[in-house]
Amino acid sequence: RIVHLNGEYLPEDQAKVSVFDRGFVMADAVYEVTSVLDGKLIDFPGHMARLARSLGELGIQNPHSDDEWLAIHREMVARNEITHGMVYLQVSRGNGGDRDFVYPPADTPPTVVLYTWQKPQLIDNPAAETGWKVCTLPDIRWHRRDIKTVQLLYPSMAKMEAKARGCDDAWLVENGLVTEGTSNNAYIVKGGAIITRALSNDILHGITRAAVLRFAREAQMTVEERSFTVEEAIAADEAFITSASAFVMPVVEIDGVRLGDGAPGKVSRRLREIYLEESR
Ligand code: PDD
Repeated sequence: RIVHLNGEYLPEDQAKVSVFDRGFVMADAVYEVTSVLDGKLIDFPGHMARLARSLGELGIQNPHSDDEWLAIHREMVARNEITHGMVYLQVSRGNGGDRDFVYPPADTPPTVVLYTWQKPQLIDNPAAETGWKVCTLPDIRWHRRDIKTVQLLYPSMAKMEAKARGCDDAWLVENGLVTEGTSNNAYIVKGGAIITRALSNDILHGITRAAVLRFAREAQMTVEERSFTVEEAIAADEAFITSASAFVMPVVEIDGVRLGDGAPGKVSRRLREIYLEESR
């Protein structure tokens, strides 16, 4: 596998990052995950716009223009012969030297890493036929979830706890209201209306979310951007999540309670179809 490190394309075992890297020591780094279908990057401009925003919020210089990022992503897709799969991109604040809470000088070069992996079942995902079960867990993450940082320990712990409880993912809950999934945005459908939390610092501004809501509105579906409780979710007709890696994934069970007849709902299935048609 060929990875990208600071402008170089290298075999993975030759790519080395300093032990002093702020990403490693302080989780001082941001990332993006872009899916690839038939060799084509999906929703790419959205991912680069969010990357620029995440970097800006943390005061890390953006090392590349959008055109350069596009060229690097395409090179990675080509060199790794990705048909269906993912491209991971991470930018850290770079080498911080002796451990210090103070940032290193502003001209410290950021560390840029990209790698890819194949995901042959990205479209024909068997899980989309049966849907996910989710378990709710408290959202104890920090309060800048709009910045896509690599501080993913709690989401990872929550995913493990969800799996231990027989679920596919966790829906995180704050003040009785669902924020989002461990690595996806959360939705319910009630009386035909698609309900999902409004954008704020409480959730990641999903790129797939933006596209799906646009397609839903274009298809004359009702969209309500507002918070919902766990009780409301359990009483919903259907539910689903969106992310760059799962696209639109139906949710069929919440905390052991089946939604409707326990099969992926009509609206969820339709949105998955529309998203895949329109984005490819
Ligand atoms: N996760 N919410 C959180 C907390 C996320 O980590 C993600 C993305 C999303 C969905 O965003 P998007 O539609 O732009 O992928 C929402 C990526 C895929 C990951 O960590 O693998």
